[in-house]
Amino acid sequence: MSRWGAAVTRTPEDATRFWAEAPRETLYDMMETPRWAWVEWLRVAAGVITSPGPVFEPGCGVGLLTEVLPAGCTYYGCDVNAGYVEEARQRGGRPGVTFERRDLYEVLGSGERWDWVVVTSLFGMFPEDESYRLIGAFWDLARLGMSVTTIDKRLIPRSRRLRHEFTAHDPDELMAVDLAGAVRMELRRGREMPQFKGHHWSRGLALYAWREDAG
Ligand SMILES: C[S@@+](CC[C@H](N)C(=O)[O-])C[C@H]1O[C@@H](n2cnc3c(N)ncnc32)[C@H](O)[C@@H]1O
Repeated sequence: MSRWGAAVTRTPEDATRFWAEAPRETLYDMMETPRWAWVEWLRVAAGVITSPGPVFEPGCGVGLLTEVLPAGCTYYGCDVNAGYVEEARQRGGRPGVTFERRDLYEVLGSGERWDWVVVTSLFGMFPEDESYRLIGAFWDLARLGMSVTTIDKRLIPRSRRLRHEFTAHDPDELMAVDLAGAVRMELRRGREMPQFKGHHWSRGLALYAWREDAG
C-alpha cells in the first residue's frame, strides 16, 4: 500500500489512476524539495549515460530530466497526466525532445527501444512487487543501459507518522535484480553525496545498469 495524504493506492491500476487525476500541486509537493535538489537528483539519474543517444523516461512529469541530459542526447518522455505533459512541452519541447501523453504500459508492449532508459522517482505509489517487474520490463527497452531512482527502504523513519507512505527499495534487493545481459551494475546513495545532506534525497538510491556495448 502507498499513501499520499488521504489517497491510498494498492494496485498498478490505482497508481496510474492516482497520477492521471493528480493536480500539478501533487507533483510539486512531492518533488520540489526544493527545486535545485529535485534537479540535482535527476542529474544523478542521468549519470548512467556514458555516451549521447536516444533516452526514454517513463513517467516524465514536467520534463525536468531534459535539463540535465548530456549534450547530443535525444529524448522521449511519456506521462499519463495530460497537464504535466502540456507543462513539459511548454517548458522544454524542442527538436529532439518529445513529450507525449501515454501510459507507460502501452510503451512496454510496443517494441520500441532506446539506448538509455532513465526511470526517475516513478515507483512511490506503485506496489513494490510491480516495481520490480517493471524494472525488468524497462531493461528490455534499453540497448545500452538504465538507471532507476528510488528511496532507500532502510532509511525511512519508522517511528513517526509521515504524511505519505511511498514504496521504497532495499539496496541489496535492488542490486540482486536479474537483468539479463547486464555486465555492470552500481548503486549510488544520496547519503554519500554532500549536496543532499539534510534533504529528502539523502535517502535516495540510484541503480545503474549497463550492457556490454555501453563502453
Ligand atoms: C513522482 S513523479 C516523477 C516525475 C519525473 N520522473 C521526475 O522525477 O521529475 C511520477 C510520474 O509518473 C507518472 N506516471 C505514473 N504512472 C504512470 C503510467 N502508468 N504511465 C505514464 N506515466 C505515469 C506520473 O504522472 C508522474 O508524473
